[in-house]
Amino acid sequence: MPNVCVASLALASDRKEARHRTTKAETREAHIWRATACLWAGPMNFRGWVAFVKFPPASLLLLTSGSPRRLFVHATGPETSTCVVNMAEEAKKQAAYTAVDNHVQNNQVVGIGSGSTIVYAVDRLAERVRQEKLNIICVPTSFQARQLILKHGLMLSDLDRHPELDVAIDGADEVDADLTLIKGGGGCLTQEKIVAGCARHFVVIADYRKDSKVMGEQWKKGVPIEVVPMAHVPVSRKIVQLFGGEVNLRMGVSKAGPVVTDNSNFILDWKFERVHSWKDVHQAIKMIPGVVETGLFVGMAERAYFGMEDGRVQVREASVH
Ligand code: 5RP
Repeated sequence: MPNVCVASLALASDRKEARHRTTKAETREAHIWRATACLWAGPMNFRGWVAFVKFPPASLLLLTSGSPRRLFVHATGPETSTCVVNMAEEAKKQAAYTAVDNHVQNNQVVGIGSGSTIVYAVDRLAERVRQEKLNIICVPTSFQARQLILKHGLMLSDLDRHPELDVAIDGADEVDADLTLIKGGGGCLTQEKIVAGCARHFVVIADYRKDSKVMGEQWKKGVPIEVVPMAHVPVSRKIVQLFGGEVNLRMGVSKAGPVVTDNSNFILDWKFERVHSWKDVHQAIKMIPGVVETGLFVGMAERAYFGMEDGRVQVREASVH
């Protein structure tokens, strides 16, 4: 098997609902599918070869020599389907699965982060709990995480009952070379930081788009900061006075007015102009009256898993922890 980008397309019975899924094991078990298939790369200007193999019962494995971000695939054969393979989703999944496989063991208390990447981690956790009959207790970092835990029938707890966690797994908006994180794109930064702070090991899962040398290289929306609602104007002014840049009150989508967090607070997004000493910045912002928490996670993560465009998972360790 060549070293290639791998994505598989599950041909759903409702053809419009075809979706992607893959594991490396599937790749090894796949066999050649004789149906005709055609592929085009849409606006991406994809160059390289592609091959199709069928993986039973109804999924089509697609191998490519390159690492396109999106492939638009139309396959005809025993079944017909047109779908989009989103390489970032595959990358998230690979990172999440690897982290869960490497860090979760029987009889552990596990912190469950928030966002879209963690969805794959909970999928994998639930699968392992079922298959290996694991005894795992989950502590959520948000309403969303709580719903995920319940949906999968996992054991739900909280910090009252389990204030010490074995491991917390969470996504991030950006991860720099030192494993400093920006979090809070989903507005859950305060609970995420509390749960991570209670865990013996804090592990980050992300796709290649989150990987930066320095903050701001990839993530352009700024540092999320949770504030008590009545303080949003003075806090915004103080941050600009201290560090420059621009602060915006995060507004709701499909809801008039500001985003309200799980803790009934507001979120400010601070667009910084240059690289700072993030520990100092975090401490200074935390001292402003009305600030609940910042989305700067400094010295907390001990390992990050990045799902890459070519299907590999890259690991970054904190230098000192
Ligand atoms: C939510 C978070 C998320 O972990 C972060 O936004 C990453 O989300 P996604 O996995 O959807 O990219 O910090 O507050």
